[in-house]
Amino acid sequence: MAYLLALDQGTSSSRSIIFDLSGALIAIEQCELLPATPGPDRVEHDPLRLWRTQLETARKVIAKANIGPQEILAIGITNQRETVVAWDTHNGTPLCPAIVWQDRRTQVQCQQLIDAGYETTISSATGLRLDAYFSATKMQWVLENVPEAKRCADGGHLAFGTVDSWLLWQLSRGKSFATDVSNASRTLLFNIHTGQWDTDLLALFGITAQSLPVVMPSSGLFGYARKDWFGAEIPIFGIAGDQQSALFGQACFSDGMAKNTYGTGCFALMHTGVTPKPSANGLITTRAAQPSSQPVFALEGSVFVGGAIVQWLRDGLNAFERSADIEALAGSVDTAGGVTVVPAFSGLGAPYWQPDARGTITGLTRSTTLAHIARAALESIAFQSTALLLAMSRDTAQQGGQPLSELRVDGGASANNLLMQFQADLLGIPVVRPTVTETTALGAAWLAGLGCGAYTSPDELTQLWKPERTFTPGISTAQAQALMQQWEHAVRQACVPQ
Ligand code: G3P
Repeated sequence: MAYLLALDQGTSSSRSIIFDLSGALIAIEQCELLPATPGPDRVEHDPLRLWRTQLETARKVIAKANIGPQEILAIGITNQRETVVAWDTHNGTPLCPAIVWQDRRTQVQCQQLIDAGYETTISSATGLRLDAYFSATKMQWVLENVPEAKRCADGGHLAFGTVDSWLLWQLSRGKSFATDVSNASRTLLFNIHTGQWDTDLLALFGITAQSLPVVMPSSGLFGYARKDWFGAEIPIFGIAGDQQSALFGQACFSDGMAKNTYGTGCFALMHTGVTPKPSANGLITTRAAQPSSQPVFALEGSVFVGGAIVQWLRDGLNAFERSADIEALAGSVDTAGGVTVVPAFSGLGAPYWQPDARGTITGLTRSTTLAHIARAALESIAFQSTALLLAMSRDTAQQGGQPLSELRVDGGASANNLLMQFQADLLGIPVVRPTVTETTALGAAWLAGLGCGAYTSPDELTQLWKPERTFTPGISTAQAQALMQQWEHAVRQACVPQ
């Protein structure tokens, strides 16, 4: 038999999944990870722990699937994006903790660059905003604050990579130092139009091209996992950042197709075809996972607090014991009773970009119960996602693109039927949940399968993607608009200086 192995290195877990060529999930292993938060603005991972947990889960999943390594046609890697790992290429030793995408330590440097007038140049080259979220200022921080990294840079043996490059380096024992376009396009150093590291941006941030990986399409031979890791050499034929990988795993291959991943946060991406579409509505433009030499693009928006609001109700307010309990509690009332929760715990992301907004609960009356608040909390996930998907629709409409005709969904909270129905109600289009909701890993497996020739084209994958349940809108457009107005009113209150 023939299988594909996906390595999914995320912010809160390392997961390894075996798929067969029909796209069926055969076995999964995962190891939870907790990033360290050594300061209020710092979020770090131990790079060796990322690698070791990934290797360990990969070995375990092969054993669990009861297959031999020679039955694995190819490995696909997908990963938390923007997170920076720095290591010495002489010995593969990490030079400092990985600086995670959530880390805000370089916010001041970003503001200084904005004040110095660099924002427009940077965003037109990269499609991104000048923000600490992305990799470049994290690399700059390493060079300025980790003497050993500076010594390695001066000696020409420093490597800077996102987590995909780090895992590839380890798997290949230093033989491959590469990344793919979807990861490169999250660094603030990659020109999404030329498809190369941007020399002006490298100079601005003080990073040398030599310290960065070679950028390849997302499907192709990246290298080999050495024989000593799994008992046989396995080729690595796919790499993509996790959100672009999920877009691929949802078989969103053409202009106007979109997915939303409901995790701790939510990430919505819309494929925009072969030309980059700049956003006039607060979104970012990024490279989509690229199965061939043809560049492809996406619009992206993220919600900072998605499923995390459920954790807060569970752990912060002791509202229920298990996260899944929210569905029954929220379902015990017909509506949120006029209550709106805006979970702006650390500001609001796209399309609002209000870093100083704070969480609010509005519309409380004497008859409000915990069930109404739970329902409003759940609804806040759909409200925020709708706001950014509407921004996407405005962008595409302004540019004569295809309107959104359905939303494909995945991630832990997509299992919540109440939430998915409310999402369909607000958007006024079908919300479709696939049979395999591990779409991030599936995307990486499919990219690897295309690379190694197990599949001939994305069209073949379109046939493999299967819906499990479709949620159709159950309220009128006018009702949906009234609900969104109530939401926007609450957002304005969350943005009032506290
Ligand atoms: O941009 C950050 C994103 O890639 C992280 O995803 O799933 O690790 O939270 P996740």
